[in-house]
Amino acid sequence: MMTSAAKPKELRLNAFYMNCITHQSPGLWRHPRDQTQRYTDLDYWVELARTLERGYFDALFLADVLGVYDVYGRNAEAALRGAVQVPVNDPMLLVPTLAYQTRHLGFGVTSILSYDQPYAFARRMSTLDHLTKGRVGWNVVTGYLDSAARASGRGKQRGHDQRYAVADEYMEVVYKLWEGSWQDDAILRDRDSGIFADPGRIHKIVHEGEYFRLEGYHLSEPSPQRTPVLFQAGSSTRGRAFAARHAECVFIAGNSKTEIARLVSEIRQAAAGHGRDPRDITVFLSAVAIAGRSRAEAQSKLDDYRTYGDVEGALVLQSGWQGIDFGAVPLDNPLSSARETVTQAHDRSDRAPDPRSVRQLAEAATLGGGAPLLLGTASDIADEMQSWLEEADIDGFNLVSAVAPETYVDFVDIVVPELQKRGVYKRDYRSGTLREKLGDRPRLHASHPAARFRHGN
Ligand SMILES: Cc1cc2nc3c(=O)[nH]c(=O)nc-3n(C[C@H](O)[C@H](O)[C@H](O)COP(=O)(O)O)c2cc1C
Repeated sequence: MMTSAAKPKELRLNAFYMNCITHQSPGLWRHPRDQTQRYTDLDYWVELARTLERGYFDALFLADVLGVYDVYGRNAEAALRGAVQVPVNDPMLLVPTLAYQTRHLGFGVTSILSYDQPYAFARRMSTLDHLTKGRVGWNVVTGYLDSAARASGRGKQRGHDQRYAVADEYMEVVYKLWEGSWQDDAILRDRDSGIFADPGRIHKIVHEGEYFRLEGYHLSEPSPQRTPVLFQAGSSTRGRAFAARHAECVFIAGNSKTEIARLVSEIRQAAAGHGRDPRDITVFLSAVAIAGRSRAEAQSKLDDYRTYGDVEGALVLQSGWQGIDFGAVPLDNPLSSARETVTQAHDRSDRAPDPRSVRQLAEAATLGGGAPLLLGTASDIADEMQSWLEEADIDGFNLVSAVAPETYVDFVDIVVPELQKRGVYKRDYRSGTLREKLGDRPRLHASHPAARFRHGN
């Protein structure tokens, strides 16, 4: 009798990083081996991208924020003092160079749609898609800092759910530009007739909506992927609804396998409700991996890293993310006591209460923003990763750095060979665009909302 063992799920990996000194591990820039202060130097980025490609990472995922973290203490001083996501440079501008220096690595770029008009943004993404030969993704975010709204001439951000309503319409506009303006057969390149493109196959987009009005042609010729691979990271009820409609890759954060399993199942079910295949959504969980050639080596790295953690910096980030001024309450108070210091409209009522004290939250958050810690030998880390994939139904990880680029170099040298040996991780890249590498498909599936703007549909 033939037995057929289920094929293990293929693990997906992104490096979760940012064009700044402190992404999610405040204080670690002070570690003697940390090199994040070289973030203004392209050599640093090229070295990092090559390391990731050597380890067959799917993408370098670049987070971004506009605005400073000024919720903590109601000013930006602690953020500026501790280099907490400020100074921060534009992630998009790194991509062409890094694409030129690599062959397969994808680039997930965060761009905050609240401050970027869709017409010009759509062209910028198409340009990147051309220059990377289809290796670009877009992390769709609406921003969460009022400081960005004030810096852009608005007093305050829109409310949480309204930001998603604007985002839904923004997506419609960019889909129209990317998918609906130029037909696949619009370009003739006919030297004899002198016709480069057939104007009859290039359509003017007219959009009259609640938040956007536009009348114009997309300016770029069709790029390899048209719509870049869409990443999204919202976990509220409204955020999940948005992800279920639009996202191809979803980022989530959390420490409990049961809770993450519930969230993933809700996201997949909601996608099915939109007529999409729930498996078309690739789910990445934030995690920080500290690998050693022995458990003792990994533990001593962790102990060493922890001595550099900046508790105040962690609270600066948490204050910005949660819209709560954690500087206004004593460190040993329960987190619930800080709720009264809410300064920004963040609807987190659907989250379970956190029983920890402010100090406990901050100490945990100094390393990778409090993401699950994968610690130990290659085999320990591979076991833990596989257990997350099986129990929580995620597809892979967004690996945050502790000390950069050391975290990634260690992962590639120590853990990747073990994952490959187990048959859960690629030994080579697939050819093609980022979308083809992730899911074997050149264009967005016909069930995706962008597809209805294509000609011939
Ligand atoms: C893993 C992860 C990564 C994120 N990265 C960014 C980012 O780079 N820039 C940004 O503005 N927001 C980022 N966010 C915030 C989300 O886009 C979103 O604003 C936030 O999760 C609140 O949405 P929600 O209320 O629907 O959960 C991230 C969130 C998560 C969980």
